[in-house]
Amino acid sequence: MIVIDSVTKTFQDHKVLKGVSLSVRENEIYGIIGQSGAGKSTLLRCINGLEAFDGGEIRVNDTALSKLSRKELRPLQKRMGMIFQGFNLMERLDVYHNIALPMRFWGLNPSSPEAGRKITELAELVGLEDKLRSKPRELSGGQKQRVAIARALILDPEFLLCDEATSALDPEITKGILSLLQRINKELNITIIVVTHQMEVVKQICERVAFISNGTVLKEGRPEELFIKPEKKEIRDFLRENSENLPENGVNIQLFFNDSNNLKPTVTQMARALDTDFSICWAKLEDFRNTVYGSLVINVEEKDRNSVCAFLDSRKILWEVLQ
Ligand SMILES: Nc1ncnc2c1ncn2[C@@H]1O[C@H](COP(=O)(O)OP(=O)(O)OP(=O)(O)O)[C@@H](O)[C@H]1O
Ligand SMILES: [Mg+2]
Repeated sequence: MIVIDSVTKTFQDHKVLKGVSLSVRENEIYGIIGQSGAGKSTLLRCINGLEAFDGGEIRVNDTALSKLSRKELRPLQKRMGMIFQGFNLMERLDVYHNIALPMRFWGLNPSSPEAGRKITELAELVGLEDKLRSKPRELSGGQKQRVAIARALILDPEFLLCDEATSALDPEITKGILSLLQRINKELNITIIVVTHQMEVVKQICERVAFISNGTVLKEGRPEELFIKPEKKEIRDFLRENSENLPENGVNIQLFFNDSNNLKPTVTQMARALDTDFSICWAKLEDFRNTVYGSLVINVEEKDRNSVCAFLDSRKILWEVLQ
């Protein structure tokens, strides 16, 4: 649906995107995650045509963006709703007219009965039907973001692009906004791209994710793959998963599992079967859209390394020796 192919972008002398490739499928919620300055917002702005790119191609439903003039880009931009961290509401307009703002831009009358119905419908969807006459300053951060979401949906977009939409909100409010995005995705069949530096966001709603570091995609896949087995050092560092306090002696082996029941017996069985002891140094369980994944680091003596690894293989448990 959106295919990004080897996109490059340079600001002055600074290469910000160094050949980014990824693809977003119809009706999915796709995450773009990475450190501050990685190029996430720049990429999003290239997708909706706010920013031109220097090389590569972006295709939206087979339309190549690099071939379009500014004018030809406009209908495409109409199909993409956008929300930001800072909400970007007009202080002097009430909620109704903030939601209606894109209509004015497209020459539609926000006071027509159809517009009124549409705006009321969207206000209900985002849970603000009783706030239509309030000004932004009378709203909480979460409510402001709900207005921004309704505004982004007013022209019936196919895509909703979210740039750090929940970064300014506390965890409870964030959850509410994320479930709203999930509803919009399911009920209105809108493809959503979320740019974020919050792992929680990706874990809760994204079906697939790209990890961007320094202008390149280090990994694209399901969030659980990224978080349970972050192969690249940059990803581990980002997730602060270096397990800094691991023992320096012996061999540290990380085990990965996706069923909280399958590991516990394996670990104790391994101790019995190999007639050896080892310590559990680090463990975590993570909730991904209702499936629990986990990983565990054990420390074994060098002499047991091969037998432990063979045992784990025999039980089809994914493992990795940590350096
Ligand atoms: N208009 C611009 N002119 C010059 N440099 C820019 C411009 N926009 C972005 N940059 C630079 O491009 C790099 C990537 O910026 P970008 O905003 O895409 O990062 P980001 O991943 O969204 O970061 P954050 O998580 O902080 O929002 C940064 O080094 C930034 O300084
Ligand atoms: Mg950004």
